[in-house]
Amino acid sequence: MMLTLNDLLKMREEGMPIAALTCYDASFAALLEGAGVDILLVGDSLGMVIQGKGTTLSVSMEEMVYHTRCVAEGASRAFIMADMPFGSYQENPEKAFSNAAQLLAAGAHMVKIEGGLPMVETVRFLADRGVPVCAHIGLTPQSVHRLGGYRVQGKTEVEASRLLNDAAALEAAGASFLLMEAIPGELAGEITESLSIPTIGIGAGRACSGQVLVLHDMLGIYPGKQAKFVKNFMIGAGSIQDAVRHYVDEVKSGDFPGIEHTF
Ligand code: KIV
Repeated sequence: MMLTLNDLLKMREEGMPIAALTCYDASFAALLEGAGVDILLVGDSLGMVIQGKGTTLSVSMEEMVYHTRCVAEGASRAFIMADMPFGSYQENPEKAFSNAAQLLAAGAHMVKIEGGLPMVETVRFLADRGVPVCAHIGLTPQSVHRLGGYRVQGKTEVEASRLLNDAAALEAAGASFLLMEAIPGELAGEITESLSIPTIGIGAGRACSGQVLVLHDMLGIYPGKQAKFVKNFMIGAGSIQDAVRHYVDEVKSGDFPGIEHTF
């Protein structure tokens, strides 16, 4: 049976960690959900791991719609989250809505947008019109040039309190999920405690309601630089299915991420 937003909210309430991975095609969608992955994130990381670019910035709406459709074809149980690519939502809430509608029509159950306070009105506009939104804060890869590289965020008191405020404002505006990337584990725990919506972490420690990794990173096949928070689950695994099952087990048991993966 297909997982719904309510099922995922219940998992958070019951303290059952949510296992998410990025996914870009139908074959992997079937494999990942068969191995127990709850959320398939059609990430704009496809610009890097599928297209070989150095950033996610050139990914288009057409490409996101295409990959979302592929994932939706292969999935029958998992909840599908799709990234809104750079330039598809920042201009105004109306444009964000028409682009989000394309992703939902392609099979996504939720869209993800990057940014804190400046995105609050857009989150409200989408949520009020029936579009479930995951807000992504911390290291937001679409802002890589403004951030001066892929760097850990929230390390100073000022940054930490800004992220706490952003999270509260995004939840109040109607965000259904919060994704936190590359922030100190302690701060991610504090933010998770302060919210009633689930949080998904990537490089945000184990106190989040769930975890996500980029598929090509956890399979050890991305040729680029690996972040500290990545674990290669193919090491010691007999097959891709095995590696993914191991990832799901470690997320559910709280063994992943370990302190060696946490800032
Ligand atoms: O695009 C993506 O894969 C993401 C993850 C880094 C969470 O947004």
